Amino acid sequence: MEKSYLTLFENNKKWVNEQLKKDPEYFTKLANGQKPEYLWIGCSDSRVPANEITGTNPGEMFVHRNIANMVVHSDMNMLSVLSYAVDVLKVKHIIVCGHYGCGGVLAAMGNQQYGLIDNWLRHIKDVYRIHHKELDMIKDEKARVNRLVQLNVIEQVQDLGKTSIVQNAWEREQPLHIHGWVYDISDGIIDDLKVTCTSTKDLHSVYHFDSVK
Ligand code: CO
Repeated sequence: MEKSYLTLFENNKKWVNEQLKKDPEYFTKLANGQKPEYLWIGCSDSRVPANEITGTNPGEMFVHRNIANMVVHSDMNMLSVLSYAVDVLKVKHIIVCGHYGCGGVLAAMGNQQYGLIDNWLRHIKDVYRIHHKELDMIKDEKARVNRLVQLNVIEQVQDLGKTSIVQNAWEREQPLHIHGWVYDISDGIIDDLKVTCTSTKDLHSVYHFDSVK
């Protein structure tokens, strides 16, 4: 039986010692609680680690990851993370970060069956359908996947704005910006798609909720 996982414990001990060398109080401080300013919604892809690529430390970023960084309105996991981040931690920025060459987006663009995951990928197919006129014009497959990666992020930013969790925060004038970014695995650079939502004005009126009085 492969015991490669044992390295993880060794690495952990090394890391603990390094942190303590830099700051003997490091873990004592972290144990006191968290006050992150950011909620990160990213892809589960092992090449897109939220903290490393943004230079953030433990305690600075609340993280939710799933295949293709989706905001599915019936996903209890995402909704619970979102509610806790917005209502309790009061994060100021939510970042949806996709990445070029996303396997989930590529799979959603094709017609092959993959099993259970097809139900998840269908949400990305819906994004394709909404933007099919633009996407069908792109002949190069790689370019088409990468544009769908961008459009998917833009739709997920909007989907966050559609939630009552986000709209109620805006209603009580809690500062909350929703950003759409794309990470390029081939050069490590994050691109801001500049589709930031900061109020219900950034959403189609059919999605506006009246305030609960
Ligand atoms: Co991905």
